[in-house]
Amino acid sequence: MAIILGIESSCDETGVAIYSHEKGLIAHKLHTQIPLHQQYGGVVPELASRDHIKRIIPLIDETLSESKLNKSDIDAIAYTNGPGLNGALLVGSGVAVSLGYALNIPVIPIHHMEGHLLSTLLTDEIIEAPFLALLVSGGHSQIIKVNQIGDYELIGDTLDDAAGEAFDKTAKMLGLPYPGGKYIAELAKNGQDIYNLPRPMLHSKDLQMSFSGLKTAVLTLITNLQQQTPELDIITKSNIAKSIEESITDVLVKKIQFAASQTGINKIVISGGVSSNLTLRNKFNKIKQLKVHYPPLQFCTDNGAMIAIAGAIRYQLRKYDYRFNTRPRYLLTELEPL
Ligand code: KG4
Ligand code: ZN
Repeated sequence: MAIILGIESSCDETGVAIYSHEKGLIAHKLHTQIPLHQQYGGVVPELASRDHIKRIIPLIDETLSESKLNKSDIDAIAYTNGPGLNGALLVGSGVAVSLGYALNIPVIPIHHMEGHLLSTLLTDEIIEAPFLALLVSGGHSQIIKVNQIGDYELIGDTLDDAAGEAFDKTAKMLGLPYPGGKYIAELAKNGQDIYNLPRPMLHSKDLQMSFSGLKTAVLTLITNLQQQTPELDIITKSNIAKSIEESITDVLVKKIQFAASQTGINKIVISGGVSSNLTLRNKFNKIKQLKVHYPPLQFCTDNGAMIAIAGAIRYQLRKYDYRFNTRPRYLLTELEPL
């Protein structure tokens, strides 16, 4: 039974997990730095690296003890080698390669977005390729055609901001904490879509997306509303939240429908932080022609489990590579088929 230790440290979450093909996810631990960065309204890279350094070894020890395993039981270590903040990536990479070297076991670099893409497999569902993947997070809004694991075609992308970024920027304008996606979703529950925000590139007849215009539209809306009432009340804020949520989710759904019609593929994986949005899930679930798979809610945002499962799949390559192999800018399409 191969046991894989997964380590994620690309941004503001330190994630550690242990996975085996036979038992599935054995244990996982996550330390979020969100409270650390919240006062700055976004992730401060230097603070992120320092916090990863503090947390990573204790987190590995806790995960091992929860799984009742020792370091010597691990067969391979998977770690995120990109994309992400380089200082943060170096911490996970440094620990993974040193531990791998000391234990004389393979270390497996994992593309962070491949981790998100494969996180749906944590639910035990086998999804036969080809399928489409919508990867929507704070840094990505991509539509990928998955021909097989490792063989990824980028068929749609954002021209500017990511969908998560649009949620986060709106949240900031409404005075909500960072990262704001979940606060917008919470407010939107009691709001109405009354502001007619644009649906950028909805009818562009391609798979390109653009979300940066939305923040300008929201800013203009807020400025106009504040001319009447400087302090926006909770109903107005909820309506703005609902309007932006409807706009972003309409675009994502429409683009995936178009991708499905272009490729003839109706199996879809949706992952990344924004995939935890329930309005998005409800809209997709209503489209009977699509078979949509999501990761479990707790594994939509960054975590170690998705890196461990991606490592378990790649373990068959038995790749030893003890260099500090980080790639802050790294396209999913640069990977090679297994
Ligand atoms: O995948 P992730 O944890 O980190 C990146 O790799 O970026 O995604 C974080 C993003 C943030 O922009 C956050 O606001 C967004 O996911 N997010 C949400 C929700 N939960 C997290 N956006 C909309 N609705 C949510 N419920
Ligand atoms: Zn992520």
